[in-house]
Amino acid sequence: MEKLYEGKAKILYPTEDPDVLLTIFKDDATAFNAQKKGQIQGKGAINCAISAALFRWLETLGIPTHYLDCPQNDQMLVKAVDIIPLEVVVRNIAAGSLCKQTGLKEGLVLGNPLVEFYLKDDALGDPLLTWERALLLGVTDEAGLQTLKDLALNINQHLQRFFAQCDITLVDFKLEFGGDRQGRIILADEISPDTCRLWDNTQTDPQARVLDKDRFRRDLGEIESAYQTVEKRVLSQIERLQSQIGAS
Ligand code: TMP
Ligand code: ASP
Repeated sequence: MEKLYEGKAKILYPTEDPDVLLTIFKDDATAFNAQKKGQIQGKGAINCAISAALFRWLETLGIPTHYLDCPQNDQMLVKAVDIIPLEVVVRNIAAGSLCKQTGLKEGLVLGNPLVEFYLKDDALGDPLLTWERALLLGVTDEAGLQTLKDLALNINQHLQRFFAQCDITLVDFKLEFGGDRQGRIILADEISPDTCRLWDNTQTDPQARVLDKDRFRRDLGEIESAYQTVEKRVLSQIERLQSQIGAS
């Protein structure tokens, strides 16, 4: 089948059903708008498994997602959506570009989660938008932006609690949403160590705590084992939740 779209970490293919697309998760890793390139062995399958588990679990909590099925360990069937060209970032703790742009100290716990919108446009370097700029660009309307913000905060509450049970602090993360055939806004893309900052609560050394793509961005080494740790803990927590449901 001919590709529909190839991104930095995933390839999208059409299927026989126009409402369904096939996503292949790649081992390729990029950072700093693809100025840094590399590979993380096994990342495709790990990110696919983590995303699938989290999407399935979020669905049980009433969050609509594009997830349908995983036919192979690095492949996900998803509902075809029109992607809203925004990266919705939620931050619980100051890190990354927030520190770089504001001078806030890394690790500062934010009083309230911060929701930010970035324009999904590689040529422009995914710039941070104001609410008004997002409206000006017409990527969605006022109600759409509010829905994205509400969904992002709701997802943050669920994910923060989930990761805490994995002994992981959810520092920040990026979400993407799309409009489905019924005009509903649903969660799309992925939730993985590529798109989240995750700090290991069982470690105290700040560098040893990093379990996400910052290990690649900052050349911290032991990238594969960090991704494997996240996968193991996420899948174990899902199993624990399932056995609790089974027992009740
Ligand atoms: P930032 O601090 O670099 O703005 O990143 C915030 C969060 O968004 C972090 O968890 C990493 C994630 N992210 C992506 O998923 N894709 C991106 O292109 C960027 C820049 C960040
Ligand atoms: N995914 C982005 C890129 O290559 C940036 C990042 O995750 O840091 O360009």
